[in-house]
Amino acid sequence: MLTRRDYLKYSAVVGTSYAIPGEFLQALESGNVIKRAIPKSGEELPVVGLGSSATFRTVAQSEDVSALRAVMETLVKKGGSVFDTAPSYGASEEIAGKIVQELGIQESVFWATKVNVAPWGGGPADPDAARAQIEQSFRFVRKDPIDLIQVHNLGDIATQLPIVRELKDEGRVRYIGITSTSARRYSDLARYMREESLDFIGVDYAVDNRTSAKTILPLAEELGIAVLAYAPFGRTRLWERVKGQPIPAWALEFGADSWAKFFLKYVVSHPAITCVTPATSKLKNMLDNIGAAYGELPDKSTQLRMSEYVDALPTV
Ligand SMILES: NC(=O)c1ccc[n+]([C@@H]2O[C@H](COP(=O)([O-])OP(=O)(O)OC[C@H]3O[C@@H](n4cnc5c(N)ncnc54)[C@H](OP(=O)(O)O)[C@@H]3O)[C@@H](O)[C@H]2O)c1
Repeated sequence: MLTRRDYLKYSAVVGTSYAIPGEFLQALESGNVIKRAIPKSGEELPVVGLGSSATFRTVAQSEDVSALRAVMETLVKKGGSVFDTAPSYGASEEIAGKIVQELGIQESVFWATKVNVAPWGGGPADPDAARAQIEQSFRFVRKDPIDLIQVHNLGDIATQLPIVRELKDEGRVRYIGITSTSARRYSDLARYMREESLDFIGVDYAVDNRTSAKTILPLAEELGIAVLAYAPFGRTRLWERVKGQPIPAWALEFGADSWAKFFLKYVVSHPAITCVTPATSKLKNMLDNIGAAYGELPDKSTQLRMSEYVDALPTV
């Protein structure tokens, strides 16, 4: 496997540190993708996956979804696996389900979906509606068991978690979990993490959004719960923040030759993170993102340097 040292030596020879020749990148990527174990099972997942809200969702709703096909094919070809989706992401789950069947890659994709039938006007969610929503996911992906079903945004835990747990007991779902990307609800999230037996949580974490690292991520480590890291770019937030800003030269020391790799390597360098799922609708960005799962990760002092660097950039 090529090391950072090989890469830097090569960069010095060709006289540039940012332009990576295609064949060199390919060689680098044929090395080992970084993986993390799901604590409850030991099964390893590649640390970079793909999300499907944001722009993925917009394109899924359009006439031409060929870009999403290229993105999903690339995810798998380049050694990734986790695909995060939800019934509430418009046509994303349906279109992605068709794509994985056309490409015949169901077994290479770790299908992470969610359940959340909002109870109108408050009150408990309808259990039949939740079951129907889950059956729709099975029909879309034609994968049984589905790898992961999480209760979306803490939904109605009392009603929906027992349903996914029952499916797990029946062998139709491999892992179960809950998600929240609202810091206001972290205390509820933490309570459920302690009270319920969970395999996964999904939570927001980014170089400029580190609140989950205060309590949720250490708790996940303590309890042995796998973590999907959401919104690693803050959707558009970090892109606006670094617009026109050069990537610091020292970031190349751990292989971050793009802002995407800088942001993603920061997220996956946290030991609690099992996989980060950035959304994209573009092949070139998928290639960029999966590149963060190769080579080195920043150490603790470099992580601090990274967050301080971003904190010092003007907010927009
Ligand atoms: N409560 C929940 O359960 C919850 C909440 C939030 C998120 N999530 C999950 O986490 C996923 C990620 O979060 P997110 O979609 O909110 O936002 P995100 O991944 O932080 O950002 C997505 C945005 O970044 C752009 N992008 C992606 N890669 C890029 C690259 N290499 N260079 C430049 N731009 C790039 C995308 O546009 P392009 O298409 O142009 O690349 C898109 O506009 C979601 O899709 C979803 O699956 C779950």
